[in-house]
Amino acid sequence: MIVLGIESSCDETAVAIVEDGHRVHSNLVSSQVRKHAEYGGVIPELAAREHLRAIAPLVELALREAKLDLSAIDGIAVTQAPGLLPALLVGISYAKGLSAALGKPLIGINHMIAHVYGAFIDQPEVRANPESYPVIALVVSGGHTMLLLIEADGRCSILGQTLDDAAGEAFDKAAKILFLPYPGGPLIDKLARTGDPRAVDFPRGLTGGGGTPLKPENRLNFSFSGLKTALLYNVRPETSGGDSTMREMGDEEFLNIIASYQEAVVDVLVRKTMWAVEDHRARSLVVCGGVACNSRLRVLMAEAAASRRLPLLIAPPAYCTDNAAMIAGLGCHELAAGRRSDYELDATPRFPVPERVYFAPCLPR
Ligand code: KG4
Ligand code: ZN
Repeated sequence: MIVLGIESSCDETAVAIVEDGHRVHSNLVSSQVRKHAEYGGVIPELAAREHLRAIAPLVELALREAKLDLSAIDGIAVTQAPGLLPALLVGISYAKGLSAALGKPLIGINHMIAHVYGAFIDQPEVRANPESYPVIALVVSGGHTMLLLIEADGRCSILGQTLDDAAGEAFDKAAKILFLPYPGGPLIDKLARTGDPRAVDFPRGLTGGGGTPLKPENRLNFSFSGLKTALLYNVRPETSGGDSTMREMGDEEFLNIIASYQEAVVDVLVRKTMWAVEDHRARSLVVCGGVACNSRLRVLMAEAAASRRLPLLIAPPAYCTDNAAMIAGLGCHELAAGRRSDYELDATPRFPVPERVYFAPCLPR
């Protein structure tokens, strides 16, 4: 089954053509990051206009790269939610038009589950093996931070999520505080490599709230806003809610602060993920979403997994940040399971994680 996938939930327009969930014929991304960088964050209406401009040429290019004609496409998969509403609507409208014109089925995809699927694209044998389950998946992106439990029959539940900022936001907002450009994650990752991660003991939001002991109900929840505030008061001590300038510091101290801040984010992500692994006796671990590109997270997660002999799947960076291969790949499984969306398919900015995922190996009949 050959599926054309469309992704337009945020600031990347992406189109991919994937066969049987794993053979990626083409995977194209047109990024708007530079346009939004001027404003220090994503502007939803600007994102929608850029998707509108990019989407049709990108579909044509994806077909050309795949050396396929539209008639070869068996179905269309499109990100339905979560995401920025105006941005999502562009992809969904285009997908509906394509589905109607071709007379081929349409399926709306949950972006979070697609991020998880992204880690399996190059590992079909792990995904298809019931012994890989239960899977713990840490989804860390610009908008979400979530721990999911996935069983071999596809049952899926949320074990924990962020109480305030997402991990990606923790990086992007830190960059803003440090007067670094948007998006902050990749740049902080790069700068942190030359700093000392132990130089500043930033608070770990583990999370009791305000430095109090961990509340049992928050064992697998995250909180990054206290950390962000600690950074703000460290580098801009004059801050009183309004604008302030950075205190004087040398390059070495600046880089040490960045490395220590990144360490605090990554430390909490790794620790809580391992708690979830132990609580649920997971037999493999997926780490996905844009923040999964972070080099320190990749190293520390690999060490923690290796010490527990736990198979770890972190997608290559191209399948971590927003892409359509993960949408088309998951779409193959959903369509093969007989799932279809009708023309009522609507975008929703927030969307519950589904109770079942359709890429699991032992789906009920
Ligand atoms: O998954 P994604 O592309 O889009 C969303 O669904 O949100 O994630 C984007 C987020 C941004 O916050 C960006 O700063 C972060 O991922 N990110 C990183 C790195 N690369 C991207 N964060 C830390 N280190 C990186 N190398
Ligand atoms: Zn995403």
